[in-house]
Amino acid sequence: MSPLRITRTLPEDATGAALRADVRTGLTATPKSLPPKWFYDARGSELFERITELPEYYPTRAEREILLTRSGEIAEASGARTLVELGSGSSEKTRHLIDALTALEAYVPVDVSESALTQAGQALVAERPGLDVHALIADFTAPLALPETPGPRLVAFLGGTVGNLLPAERAAFLASVRALLAPGDGLLLGTDLVKDEATLVRAYDDAAGVTAAFDKNVLAVVDRELGADFDPDAFDHVAVWDAEREWIEMRLRSRTAQTVKVPALDLAVEFAAGEELRTEISAKFRREGVASELASAGLELTHWWTDSEGRFALSLSTVR
Ligand code: SAH
Ligand code: TRP
Repeated sequence: MSPLRITRTLPEDATGAALRADVRTGLTATPKSLPPKWFYDARGSELFERITELPEYYPTRAEREILLTRSGEIAEASGARTLVELGSGSSEKTRHLIDALTALEAYVPVDVSESALTQAGQALVAERPGLDVHALIADFTAPLALPETPGPRLVAFLGGTVGNLLPAERAAFLASVRALLAPGDGLLLGTDLVKDEATLVRAYDDAAGVTAAFDKNVLAVVDRELGADFDPDAFDHVAVWDAEREWIEMRLRSRTAQTVKVPALDLAVEFAAGEELRTEISAKFRREGVASELASAGLELTHWWTDSEGRFALSLSTVR
């Protein structure tokens, strides 16, 4: 069994400087916001795994169905010897793809969550003894240095996570992915599709309150890392569909007028009763939009697969 290699490209104190800068910017802006990558400490990653099992949260099941039925076609089209996965989390669905990629030699999962990467990586080296697993603790929105592994390369970005980036961030991100690819390499992109509002809102505001707990976890991260005194119970989780921009917006709404102290930033943040803090968007897509965003980044959409209910899409694109 080849050992699991883990490379950290984030400073050990990753929650230090970057978190401080993000929290200061976000909490002093109008409207207030916090960037989503800070959801994923060990508890956040665990809560996300529970979200993927909720009856209301259809994206994981829909994408798994596509991977189960189409991995053979994906493997044939890509011929990849290296699979790079951005925001890999538990790598659970990815196993279908790994099994189908007959020429695969190396798997490079990339995530900010060290706990998720270590767990997934250890399981994979045990299950797939021939596979070289090289995990990267890194921020996929920053320039990525990938390990030297054989081509062709397939970069997978699953879970609809691309929708958590704002449009300008998405354009920059896709251009940076394009820069990682050589002719013959591919991008496998998972995108959740526009559908009726009720289904979408339920997926981001489940009856059991797991999504609410996940959303509020970002407050617990700021409390722990920056000594803040956010009381998660003083906020309500809200999920709203923005029909014009075609995205779900997750917000935390202050139940009362309150002041939150963030000692590490020497900051006191005033919330009015009912004031909302934006924590995350989750954009929903249409085929034409995906194709045109890819084209703007220098990528050409060659394959488009959806689940049997047309809820979610996987696309394969190559360097133009
Ligand atoms: N791919 C998995 C997990 C999706 S959740 C699935 O489809 O189920 C999003 C994942 O991206 C989490 O594991 C989170 O830790 C990671 N993530 C979020 N922002 C990130 C960033 N900026 N850089 C690297 N990983 C990030
Ligand atoms: N990539 C996932 C999505 O957009 C992340 C996610 C699921 C999420 N549920 C959430 C993010 C709730 C914040 C809050 O579907």
